[in-house]
Amino acid sequence: MSISKAIAPVAGLGTRLLPTTKVLPKEMLPVGRLPVIHHVVEELIAAGIRQILFVTAGNKGAIEDHFDEGSELMRRLEAEQHELLETCRFQYRDRGVEFFSVRQRIAPGQNKPAGTGDAVAAGEAFVGDEPFVVAFGDSIVRTRAGKPLLQRMIASHREHNSACTIGAYPVSDELVHHYGILIPETSNTTDSKLTGILEKPRPEQTTSRLAISARYIFSPDIFNRIRTTSPSSSGEIYLTDAIEALISAGEMVRAVCLSKDEKRCDIGNHLAYFQTFVDYALDDPEWGEQIRTYMQQKLTENRS
Ligand code: UTP
Repeated sequence: MSISKAIAPVAGLGTRLLPTTKVLPKEMLPVGRLPVIHHVVEELIAAGIRQILFVTAGNKGAIEDHFDEGSELMRRLEAEQHELLETCRFQYRDRGVEFFSVRQRIAPGQNKPAGTGDAVAAGEAFVGDEPFVVAFGDSIVRTRAGKPLLQRMIASHREHNSACTIGAYPVSDELVHHYGILIPETSNTTDSKLTGILEKPRPEQTTSRLAISARYIFSPDIFNRIRTTSPSSSGEIYLTDAIEALISAGEMVRAVCLSKDEKRCDIGNHLAYFQTFVDYALDDPEWGEQIRTYMQQKLTENRS
């Protein structure tokens, strides 16, 4: 069965990026010439996804507006400024791509959305009984050469008839305690069965350095696991806890690793966001060279 549906959770508060995210969703921050979520959507389309569900919250309407090709601005450009229209027309309808959205619930007694597991659960009716992709809207996986990660994950998911396939990448010792760390069964980390997940462990707790890369493929059984996952002390239901339950039940859960030509570009904190913006600005076809010269000048000035 081919995989054509994806859930993109975009309902989080983005508190690590305040004050920028007071009003602006972090998924709309510019990376090069496009907002983060636009890069994520193109990554999904390249993997064969045609129906995308945004799991949103009250202040995230700009995301739905961005993908509305019948907006007032688009109609005005069509009538008056055809050359500008081409810069913001992405032909989703012609490419067979449809967007949907659902609001994530706020759990009783809380004043924030109820966690990544709860966000995925909001897509249960949308995906029905098909396997589906989950792509967090605040991370881009950039592929410079070869078959992109999501395509390799989909192929692995089918080949092994897995319950869950997770995109993964190695991190340094100092970063282990920031991430969900995957424990592979063998030392082959290109595509390997997992025996556990540790949430933000200390580096001495595990020899694994394989972090989760914000991309997942699930078979619908994940919804039963999310339903039986207990909320954390802060009331959130974590997706990693539901995946841990799949592993404990003996289900096939695998990790497919990013290639040397791929990078996970995280937007969730200021340092990672600045680094990602610089990477994309340097690669801009029109201004990249000038940005490079500008940065070289700035570095020389700072040294003298
Ligand atoms: P994060 O784990 O980075 O959480 O979400 P956050 O709440 O957005 O950010 P901080 O920690 O307050 O800075 C990863 C992805 O999952 C979505 C977010 O929008 C982001 O794209 N998310 C997170 C939800 O959709 N719902 C949630 O309840 C939590």
